[in-house]
Order: sequence, then C-alpha cells, then structure tokens
Amino acid sequence: MTEVTLAVVGGGLRGLTYARRAHATGAGRVVAVAEPDPGRRAAFAAEFGIPPEGEHLGWKELAAAGRVADAAVIATHDQLHTGPAVTMADLGYHILLEKPMATSERESARIADAARRNGIMLAVCHVLRYTPYTRVVRGLLDGGRIGRLVSVQHLEPVGWWHQAHSFVRGHWRRQDTSAPMLLAKACHDIDWLVHLFGRPPTKISSFGSLSHFRAEERPAPAADRCLDCPLEPSCPYSAKRLYLGCLGDPDSEFWPLSAVTPGRTEAEVLEALRTGPYGRCVYACDNDVVDHQEVVMEFDDGATCSFTMSAFTPMEHRRTRLFGTHGYIDGDGSTLRLVDFRTGEEEVVETAGEGGPSAADGHGGGDEGLTDAFLAAVASGDASLLRSDAAESLMTHRVVWAAERARLTGSVVTL
Ligand SMILES: NC(=O)c1ccc[n+]([C@@H]2O[C@H](COP(=O)([O-])OP(=O)(O)OC[C@H]3O[C@@H](n4cnc5c(N)ncnc54)[C@H](O)[C@@H]3O)[C@@H](O)[C@H]2O)c1
Repeated sequence: MTEVTLAVVGGGLRGLTYARRAHATGAGRVVAVAEPDPGRRAAFAAEFGIPPEGEHLGWKELAAAGRVADAAVIATHDQLHTGPAVTMADLGYHILLEKPMATSERESARIADAARRNGIMLAVCHVLRYTPYTRVVRGLLDGGRIGRLVSVQHLEPVGWWHQAHSFVRGHWRRQDTSAPMLLAKACHDIDWLVHLFGRPPTKISSFGSLSHFRAEERPAPAADRCLDCPLEPSCPYSAKRLYLGCLGDPDSEFWPLSAVTPGRTEAEVLEALRTGPYGRCVYACDNDVVDHQEVVMEFDDGATCSFTMSAFTPMEHRRTRLFGTHGYIDGDGSTLRLVDFRTGEEEVVETAGEGGPSAADGHGGGDEGLTDAFLAAVASGDASLLRSDAAESLMTHRVVWAAERARLTGSVVTL
C-alpha cells in the first residue's frame, strides 16, 4: 500500500497515538509536526525522525509552509480545531480531526463546509465506530437478527478517577475553556447511537447536573491539595494514590500520567501534585461540567433510546442493551449475548476487541481501526473506507447540541 505522509498538528497524547499507529503499520509516515511545547516537539520529532524543516511552532507556521504532506492530523484542544481544520482543508490536506469537531455549531458547520468545498476527506475521530465490537453489532442489526430495533439502553461508565482526572481537575473541566461534558466526552456515544439506528432522532430531552464535585460536598477537614489532606488515604479521589500508582506501568504512564508531568519518578510526580492542577482537592477546583447526564431520544418510527453518562462507575467499556421485535442483544463492549425470539435460543458472540476502554489501551481497538481506515482511504482515494464523513459528524454533533438545549431549557427539542 502507498505510504501516506502526515503532518501532525498538536504533538500531545492523541497526536502521538495516531502517529505511532501509522508508523507501526508502515501505512503512514509523519513528515511534519506543529507543537508549541519545545520538549514535546523535540521528543515527537526524534521519535518519528522528522527533519528540522518539518518542526513548527504551531499550526499557523505549519500552514505557512504550504501543503507538505498528504494528510493532516489535528489533535489540538477542543477550542483550537476550527482554525487549523479550515486552513488545512483549504490547503488541500485530507484531515483526521479530533472530536469534538469544534465547540460551536457554527464553527463545526464551517469545518464541514471547508471539507466539501475542497473535496477532501475529513474523518472526525469517533473511534467507537471503528472497533471490532461495533462492526459486529452493526452486522447483527443490518442482518435482521433482532428484527426492527425498538429501543436501546446505553451506559457510558466514565469512571470515578477518570472523571476526577479529566473533568474535575483536567483540561475538560470547564465549559468556557473546553465544552459541555456531552460534547467533550459523550459526543462519541451520541454519534455511536445514531450510527446504530442509521438516522438521527426526531425528538430529544435531557437531564443532568454537577452533583458531587463541588464545594458544598467537601468534607470539613479536607485540605485544598491531596498532599496536605488528612482525609487523603480514605478519599476515592486521592490524586496521590491515582498518579503514584501509574509509575512503573507504561500504559498508565502514557495516560493519564503524562498529562500531569513528563517526570517518571516519585519525586517528580509529588512535585506536580504539590504545584499543578492535578493535585487539587476535587471539591476545591474551578470545574463546572456535569458528572451525570441522561439523554432520551425518539426516532421517526417511534423507536426510543435512553443514554446515561455517569462519573460514578468503574472505568469500563460502554454497556448497551438493544431491544428488537425478534430478538435482544446485551453487550458489554466485548461480548454480546443475543437471544433470538424465533427459537428462544441464546448465542454468545465474542468480538475479539483489542484492548480496554481507555485512551491508554486504544479505546477497544478503535484508535487502531480509525487510523488504519483513514490511511487506507487517503492512500486509495476511497472515502467509503471511512465510517463517517464531515457532514455526518456535523449531523451527530447537532444532536448533541439539541440535547444540551433540552437539558438547559428543561424542554423536549424537536430536530
Ligand atoms: N477520540 C478520542 O477518543 C479522544 C480522546 C482524548 C482526547 N481527544 C481529543 O483530542 C484533542 C487533544 O487532546 P490530547 O489529550 O491529545 O491533548 P494534549 O494536551 O495532550 O495535546 C494537545 C497539544 O496541542 C498543542 N498545541 C497547543 N497550541 C497549538 C498550536 N497553536 N498549534 C499546534 N499545537 C498546539 C499543545 O501544546 C498540546 O501538546 C482534544 O480535542 C480532545 O478532546 C479525543
């Protein structure tokens, strides 16, 4: 297969993940990186053998060099997607764009428009669409194994420590600097559910709030930082326990630890917790995104879907029950139990998903599947290898915004 050349915008965790997969399979080669952090930029360039002229301080400097690769990976933070995406599309790059497309409907529409105008392929990183598990579920539905889909119950178990890491202490804790939780995290789930139904819902409602990670919930003797806190040993959200526990495990050192510190010694981790955002008490942060949310959707044929996102779980694969007119599927992200109402028989389908649910282990094979599909699509010019294009991702993002409007106004939104 032709080797696809890549320019990576944002040499952080996600940029690294896609670049590593491209190099590991030999399907892609990174020839340029845009990354303002000098340490990250140098490490990225060294790992992928990028020549000095391929190292750029930021996306604007990379864009000023013209089109230097077949495709661009845009893996900057949520609020820095639109500028690079539109500019790189106008330069003729095919684009792998991290989710969410952008933090507003207007900006996401600008990105989709730039992709259409320039005739490029743009894949939003909805990794769940690319797991072996999803392929099997879609195959069972498309093959009529449970008849017509009448309702779905879907759970996203964010995980107590993951919520604390990303959505209380970390980058995605505030709507004004990132996005609402439903967009920043659960846009994957809404996208996946729409993918299963094969169409968007017609009506949507939602409820949810920030229930626990707030000042009113703080136990009286708690200190502002875990390292000074008398309650730390018994607190489920102890930063000390979480991050010191990552040391020695390469997956956990990559994520979540590398968001906290580039250091890999106990002293360096403790210093980051003493001074940085990840050592703060979860009841004394400046977070405002929800820690639990429900979304209920109705489709044109009366089918319904309920979705729960919760912080108060172990961090596991999503769980989904699919109720059809002729059968039932119960899935845990890896194994599916199918009951066929025609025979009463039960079948267990192992989907051979690689890896666990987190970013450290590739989102159940989704990171690999997405990277491989994107590179194959660019190499062959065959956009049908992608499981969604910019227009479809814009449509599923619009469902997210409709759900947020429903939550904030306490109403049922008609799409
Ligand atoms: N698809 C998924 O499952 C998934 C999982 C996690 C995160 N994400 C998304 O991926 C994106 C990146 O997240 P991350 O965890 O890799 O963050 P990160 O902080 O590790 O990486 C972002 C990088 O962008 C760099 N950057 C900042 N300004 C820049 C500029 N002007 N030009 C180029 N680079 C610039 C930062 O220095 C940083 O290294 C976010 O939008 C996030 O929501 C997606």
